[in-house]
Amino acid sequence: MLFKPRLACSALFKVCKNQSSHSLGKFNIAYLRVRTMATFSNNEVAIITGASSGIGAGTAEKLAELGVAKLCLTGRNQDALKQTKKACLQKSTSNMKDEDVILVTGDITEESICKSVVDKTLDLFGQIDILVNNAGIIKTGPFETSSICNYDELNNINVRSIVLLTQLCIPHLKKTKGSVVNVSSVNGIRSFANVGYYCMTKAALDMYTKCLALELASDGVRVNAVNPGVIVTNIHTRAGMDQVQYDAFLERAKETHALGRPGVVEEVADAIAFLASSQSSFMTGNLTSVDGGRNLMCPR
Ligand SMILES: NC(=O)c1ccc[n+]([C@@H]2O[C@H](COP(=O)([O-])OP(=O)(O)OC[C@H]3O[C@@H](n4cnc5c(N)ncnc54)[C@H](OP(=O)(O)O)[C@@H]3O)[C@@H](O)[C@H]2O)c1
Repeated sequence: MLFKPRLACSALFKVCKNQSSHSLGKFNIAYLRVRTMATFSNNEVAIITGASSGIGAGTAEKLAELGVAKLCLTGRNQDALKQTKKACLQKSTSNMKDEDVILVTGDITEESICKSVVDKTLDLFGQIDILVNNAGIIKTGPFETSSICNYDELNNINVRSIVLLTQLCIPHLKKTKGSVVNVSSVNGIRSFANVGYYCMTKAALDMYTKCLALELASDGVRVNAVNPGVIVTNIHTRAGMDQVQYDAFLERAKETHALGRPGVVEEVADAIAFLASSQSSFMTGNLTSVDGGRNLMCPR
């Protein structure tokens, strides 16, 4: 089969411009091989949180492209959610129509929003097969001076909201023998200074993933996580980095990641799609690094 090499975004061009064409060629082949793996049966219903930006938006588009039939997309930015919906409808291979993608706008830390996500999905689509817990934020700063409010905010979004929403979905996931994918981070499995609160939330999410996988295994529900390294999205600038700092951060990612570059959204979306699909039917409780080998490195 002949694949057309392609790069996922201009930011990747920027960070890879000093790499040899040989290493880029290897990257493209490995990447496209993964892209052929996940498939769906054209009747799955998926909920994706944080679908208005970055990894969540990319995952929504990927699931539409791979044949998921119906999507419930959540986030706070309604205009951005509408953009994601438009892209999903364009890419859908299951002939999705306008009514097949619903948007629930609001703060996912609020119980009423979590409830609305589940109720609307069930009212309109009747089932839940896939839950992608992706919405998250990062905040930096040392333990000595970081406000405990930052800790609370990180914990509320990155852990508590996931526990809350998943709890509401569990009875329905049991009916479909569905799949949960939690978006964690390399920060969940490795320690980093000055981003400790964030690391703690992702470590908690990893343990939640493993414990929940055990609890739901006998019901045929699988629970896995992806643990990305640095991925080019808005998350770091939203956390306060200016463009100069962000460019330097991506430049440094060439050293901190074994593959010599940061990743792009589509590479994480591919892994999420794989874990959500029956292609990963014998995987549960798995913390799946999608980090260009960053967890293997020991950079300071
Ligand atoms: N990018 C990376 O380098 C990286 C690395 C490892 C792990 N991750 C993880 O990947 C996930 C997605 O991050 P990203 O990089 O794609 O970031 P992003 O582009 O900033 O997107 C974050 C998403 O989460 C949503 N969100 C955040 N707080 C929310 C809240 N209180 N209520 C509802 N929605 C909320 C945002 O919605 P609105 O914009 O509509 O508010 C947005 O859709 C996060 O869990 C992050 O920790 C990212």
